[in-house]
Amino acid sequence: MTNTASRLIPPHGGALINREVTGEAARALEERARSLPAVALSSRKLSDLEMLAIGGFSPLEGFMTREQYRPVVEEMRLPGGLPWTMPITLDVPAETARSLKNGAEIALAEPDGTRLAVLEVAEVFEYDRAVEAEKVYRTTDEAHPGVAALYKQEALLAGGRVTVFRRPSNREFLEHRLDPVQTRAEFDRRGWKRVVGFQTRNPVHRAHEYIQKCALEIVDGLLLHPLVGDTKSDDIPAAVRMRCYEELLDGYYPKDRVVLSVNPAAMRYAGPREAIFHALVRKNYGCSHFIVGRDHAGVGNYYGTYDAQYIFDEFAPQALGVTPLFFEHTFYCRACEGMASSKTCPHGEEQRVSLSGTKVREMLSRGEEPPHEFTRPEVARVLIASMRGAAEAAAGGGS
Ligand code: ADX
Repeated sequence: MTNTASRLIPPHGGALINREVTGEAARALEERARSLPAVALSSRKLSDLEMLAIGGFSPLEGFMTREQYRPVVEEMRLPGGLPWTMPITLDVPAETARSLKNGAEIALAEPDGTRLAVLEVAEVFEYDRAVEAEKVYRTTDEAHPGVAALYKQEALLAGGRVTVFRRPSNREFLEHRLDPVQTRAEFDRRGWKRVVGFQTRNPVHRAHEYIQKCALEIVDGLLLHPLVGDTKSDDIPAAVRMRCYEELLDGYYPKDRVVLSVNPAAMRYAGPREAIFHALVRKNYGCSHFIVGRDHAGVGNYYGTYDAQYIFDEFAPQALGVTPLFFEHTFYCRACEGMASSKTCPHGEEQRVSLSGTKVREMLSRGEEPPHEFTRPEVARVLIASMRGAAEAAAGGGS
C-alpha cells in the first residue's frame, strides 16, 4: 500500500516534519557548520534533537521560541491552540548567548565536539525555571528527577528551527530504531488502521502484557514503544528491557500483530503532562490509540494514581486526535485465575498477586524468580542474569 492510500491517523498538526538533510545537502551543511560557534548538547538534548529531526515531535521544527514556550507552559497549547504539554527547549551558556544575534546560526554538537546540526536562532530568551517546574511537574522539589534536570539548565534558552546533517552517535538498538515514517510504512504494509501505542520505561511484567493484550483485542495492531533515552539512574537499563521484550514476544505474542520499536526520547517523569505528550508523540508514529494505565510517567508520590488519565478531560478529543485507552491498576487474582482489576474482580487483597518494584528487585538480586503470575519466567531469567552480570562487573571493577 502506498503512503497516499494510508488509512492511518494523520500526524499531529497534519504533516510529518522532517528536519534532516542527507547526501550532498548534508555535506554542504556540515561544511558550513564548521565555521559556526558550537553548543555541546547533553544526552537529553541530543534525544530531543533526534526527535525533532525525524518528526517524532511534529509539528515542532526546532527548539521552542518564547512565543511557543509561554503558551505551552501556561496553557498546554502551542500558538494557534494545538495541544502540546512539554517544553522542548535548548539552554545555552551565557557567553554563547551574548555573541548570538537573532537570525544567527549555531552548530549543535555532541559532547566530544562532533557537529550534528545547525540551529537558526530566532531568539534567545530568559525563562523562569520555578514557574516551569510548578506548571509542568506540579512541584519545585529538586528531588523530582525532571525538576532536577530542569534546574541544572542554563538561564537562557535559544529557540529556532534545526536542520540535522548527522544523527547523534549514541544510537543503540538500530534494528528496532524506526522513525515515524518507517513505523507508518510498516503499519500500512500490514494493512493496519487502528494501532495502539504503548509507552514504557520499566521491565515488562504481566500487568503490562495484560493491558497491551486487552487493547489489542479492539485494534488492528500494537506498537510496543519502550523509551530508550535517558532515564533515572535506578531504572533498569534499556538494553536489558529490550532483551525482556524480545523474550516475551517470542513466547507470548502473535508476531503479525506487534511492532517492537524504540522511542529515542528522554524520560521526564512529568506524570499527567507527559502522558499527553507521550500520546501525541505516538500519534506521530502512526498510533490512533494510546494506553494510559496507573501512575503513567509518574515518580515517587508526586502524582495521584489516575491524574495522568484525568488530564485528558482538559482537551477536546478531536484536538488530540489520538484516543487514550485507560486502565486501572491490574494484578493477577488467584480466585479469578487470571489478570484483573477492581473493575473486573470482586475478590480481596489476599487473593491478589501484587508486588512492589522494590520487592521484585530484592528477589531478582537474590537470583529468585518472582511468581509467574507476576513476571513471565523468561523475562525473570533475563533480569536475574543482568543483575548477576552487573554485580560481577562491579566486583571485578573493585578488585
Ligand atoms: S512509565 O513511566 O513508562 O509510565 P511503566 O513502564 O511502568 O512506566 O508503565 C508503562 C505503562 O503501563 C503506563 O501506561 C502505566 O500506567 C501502565 N502500568 C504499569 N503497571 C501497571 C499496572 N499494574 N496496572 C495498570 N497499568 C499499569
